[in-house]
Amino acid sequence: MYLTPRQLLLGGATGLTGEYLLDRLLSEPTVQRVLAPTPRPLPEHPRLDNPVGALEYLLPALQGPVETVFCCLGARQQSGSPPPQLEEVDLELVLAFARRARILGARHLLVVSARGASLDSTCPWLQAKGRMEQALQQQGWPQLTIARPPRLLGPRYSQRLLDRLMAPLAGLLPGSPLGLEVCALVWALWRLALEEDQGLRIVEADELRRLGE
Ligand SMILES: NC(=O)c1ccc[n+]([C@@H]2O[C@H](COP(=O)([O-])OP(=O)(O)OC[C@H]3O[C@@H](n4cnc5c(N)ncnc54)[C@H](OP(=O)(O)O)[C@@H]3O)[C@@H](O)[C@H]2O)c1
Repeated sequence: MYLTPRQLLLGGATGLTGEYLLDRLLSEPTVQRVLAPTPRPLPEHPRLDNPVGALEYLLPALQGPVETVFCCLGARQQSGSPPPQLEEVDLELVLAFARRARILGARHLLVVSARGASLDSTCPWLQAKGRMEQALQQQGWPQLTIARPPRLLGPRYSQRLLDRLMAPLAGLLPGSPLGLEVCALVWALWRLALEEDQGLRIVEADELRRLGE
């Protein structure tokens, strides 16, 4: 079954994925409102509701209705993100954001995790993602979509320019370790948001790549 989400909540709209996703959502004529709390103001748009401030303080004041939620929150990686930041952002903040969204009446959460997310991972970041995934499953979402992208390719970070040069190879190699263009991830997330389903769906990198075409 397909539906047309109209009332949306977006977390992480100032980030690489969130920024592209916000553009995508606001370009959809069926979308009536995007509620996007951010630490810094976003460019104004008639269908964008942008409370500004620290997310932990904004959460209790957010108002619905909200049908579908996208969570692109994540600890910034440039400083190596020591474990406390991972706990605070990739786990606690994501869970608090999702809890508030449930209270506002949302039925579908789409969250960006990472390829290799696992409770058993020796990488602290992937372990935090694994714990986040597990805790979200315990929140009782009617529909929960977990996207597990590989490294994201986009224009914002110079290191990614190198990845982009290698990107043409990515499509040739099933299960390639190469990255995924952020615009493909965003397109995949939108397509997944249109699918009305029940329960949990984990979308691995290859499926995201296919959906993002
Ligand atoms: N980038 C990759 O290669 C990659 C690969 C696999 C998975 N992922 C995952 O995909 C998701 C999106 O990645 P991305 O690269 O788009 O992330 P990003 O560019 O680092 O953006 C992260 C977003 O989270 C926000 N955020 C971080 N800490 C916050 C806090 N304490 N309070 C409020 N907002 C906070 C950031 O706000 P500010 O703008 O204020 O910092 C930003 O909007 C993340 O969960 C990431 O772990 C990323």
